[in-house]
Amino acid sequence: MDSILAQLRTLASQADSASRYKILDGLRALQLQLETPHDTLSRLSGLPLSTAALSETTKAAPLVLSRILRYLASIGMIQEVARDSFAANTITETLAQSGYEGGVRHFFGNVGPVLQAFPDFLSETKYQDVSNATHSAFQKAFPTDLPAFVWLPTQPERFAPLQQVMTVQGASGMPWFSVFPFEKELGNFTGSHAFVDVGGGFGHQSLALLKAFPALHGKIVLEDLPQTFEQLPFRLDGIEPKPHNFFEPQPVKGARFYYLRNILHDWPDDKCVAILQQLITASGPDSQILIDEMVLPDSGVSWEATTIDLTLMASFGSRERTTAQWNALLDTAGLKVLRIDTYQARRQDSIIQAIAK
Ligand SMILES: C[S@@+](CC[C@H](N)C(=O)[O-])C[C@H]1O[C@@H](n2cnc3c(N)ncnc32)[C@H](O)[C@@H]1O
Repeated sequence: MDSILAQLRTLASQADSASRYKILDGLRALQLQLETPHDTLSRLSGLPLSTAALSETTKAAPLVLSRILRYLASIGMIQEVARDSFAANTITETLAQSGYEGGVRHFFGNVGPVLQAFPDFLSETKYQDVSNATHSAFQKAFPTDLPAFVWLPTQPERFAPLQQVMTVQGASGMPWFSVFPFEKELGNFTGSHAFVDVGGGFGHQSLALLKAFPALHGKIVLEDLPQTFEQLPFRLDGIEPKPHNFFEPQPVKGARFYYLRNILHDWPDDKCVAILQQLITASGPDSQILIDEMVLPDSGVSWEATTIDLTLMASFGSRERTTAQWNALLDTAGLKVLRIDTYQARRQDSIIQAIAK
């Protein structure tokens, strides 16, 4: 047994990204196969304790603290170096970075209550497809009738972690513009705005694009809600920040690219059509709309994609979409799909290039 584990460790240390995920998937499948129902419950029920308790470290009673640390060590989140002596490991160090720390706060504080309310919501709605931004498990979990993305921005302590985690979502893979032929499609465009990052959060995609194509300096616009810019943790050199609600008329006309990453998966179809129609209205003859989203196959969808899909259903009454669902939605909005480039096969992260019909 030990030698199998040692071999796996050697393999993992030499693996490239695709093989690393293959090993991770294999181990995950094996873990699920080996777990008893009790193991599964323990794994799930223990986790929510960690964030709240850790946030109080300075005031915690030693006994309480040592039990929590013992638990964290037992699941590999920290290292137990001697009796009552613990040290950070690489997981702890990763989770201490702001994007991942935001992830812990967001997934436990924002997503957790929604997923807990989800079974009751499904039961009350008799397991029917509701697809309604104002009627999802989110409104059961929190004291609001508003869509999640209208209420959350009014709650800074919830909204900041959400924006932080977006900066690291999918950050480890290949960048989209290394597969989508960005430079060729930009061509000799001479307009003042080459790229509008619609709902771009803290601007991590704009920054990565500018780093790869420095000639875009001054030609990128980052749009998001005003509350996002109030939380912005860094300066955006060469990128114009523009507070804007994407349900209202698009202020930047005739840009070459209007780019939406993980925007449409947050909204049911009717709202997506409303967002896209604002972009079509602002488009010039050279404009393109780039949709950066998962494009799911009809079967064999990965666990990461299905997990996010159910979280979207619970939180926003929305979904990840298959190729057929994207084609139908974009057709209804008045768009023609030119090409779809998948840049991360594992989650089917793809760029859908579309123009007005
Ligand atoms: C899932 S995040 C995606 C952020 C970023 N595009 C990315 O891929 O990391 C959705 C983004 O949409 C923004 N958003 C939500 N409703 C909006 C609205 N009505 N107008 C503009 N931005 C909005 C949120 O603030 C958030 O930054």
